[in-house]
Amino acid sequence: MQIEVLPLAPEKMKQKVADETQLGFGKLFTDRMLLVEWTTDKGWHNARIKPYEPFVLDPATTVLHYAQEIFEGLKAYKWEDGRIALFRPEMNARRFNQSASRMCMPEVPEELFLDGIDKLVELEKDWIPSAPGTALYIRPAMIAVDPYLGVKPGDHYYFFVILSPVGAYYAAGFNPVSILVEDKYVRSVAGGTGDAKTGGNYASSLKAGLEAKQKGYDQVLWLDGKERRYIEEVGAMNMFFAYGNHIVTAPLTGSILSGITRESVLRLAVELGCTVEERLIDVDELFDDLRNGKVTEAFGSGTAAVVTPVGKLGYKDEALQVGDGGVGALTQKLYDALTDIQTGKQADRFGWIRIV
Ligand code: PLP
Ligand code: COI
Repeated sequence: MQIEVLPLAPEKMKQKVADETQLGFGKLFTDRMLLVEWTTDKGWHNARIKPYEPFVLDPATTVLHYAQEIFEGLKAYKWEDGRIALFRPEMNARRFNQSASRMCMPEVPEELFLDGIDKLVELEKDWIPSAPGTALYIRPAMIAVDPYLGVKPGDHYYFFVILSPVGAYYAAGFNPVSILVEDKYVRSVAGGTGDAKTGGNYASSLKAGLEAKQKGYDQVLWLDGKERRYIEEVGAMNMFFAYGNHIVTAPLTGSILSGITRESVLRLAVELGCTVEERLIDVDELFDDLRNGKVTEAFGSGTAAVVTPVGKLGYKDEALQVGDGGVGALTQKLYDALTDIQTGKQADRFGWIRIV
């Protein structure tokens, strides 16, 4: 599909980032965005890259009431040789369409998803930071925009992409976070929308997040919604536990997100000589293993979170330190292996990179 590029008035251009070490996450947005519309009668049409600006939405707009919305998250990196690299964007395109199908939304042709991102990132390349640990975060999303209060799938959608220069997702940077296993609220259940990247999953997690913060924890680790016994994932990352060189993570049972970083970490771990296992992780067994020192490291993985070390795990009234509470050796190796490919410091032996 032809993507029109609308003019951007020079006086509308924003100030570029002055200090890349102070970026934080998702606070700053670039000058342009991609917007494509879908209607029942026309399908996908009107693809354009336009100045970044607010949407004007009728107060009755479906997404505002019934949350028919999906999103993705991926990153662009500026390599030392000046090339711009995307990390596994085809996987995001595929997952976006799986989320679309779950939420009764139209699928975005993979070519439109990828071409649209390529073109937008190319136009906005001066916004890509290059300090260590920084990247251009890419946020594709789709919303139902019909002004209608009946509960039904929309007839009109916006697919849009915005860009944000980012540093670390967690304020602590690449430092251990503390995580509380949630025993009161649940995030998702079998048959629910847990494996779709849809806003409601995040809205429903806020209360537990707030209560965990009040208890001194950074994040919530969800248990399965039925037995409240098996470890699932954290709000923005999949979880791993290392028993020496053996790494364990929860299986994709339908209630957690199929993380692209998760899949990449599993492959890198094997390359580093680890054995990996996707299995149900009983929370009581995990805490026994933590208590007797069998669990040597814990970390999370995600596009925003990259590889994040976990230094403390809490459950009910108990708080346990993981390993020595610092960044584990394996966690560090996996962080380096992943980010070296993303930033072009190591050869892309898996075919994960798409040069813009
Ligand atoms: N789990 C949840 C709930 C997430 O929001 C994310 C972030 O995208 C992840 C896991 C990690 O997925 P990925 O590695 O594809 O970014
Ligand atoms: C990402 O890592 O891309 C995510 O979507 C997590 C988000 C909640 C910040």
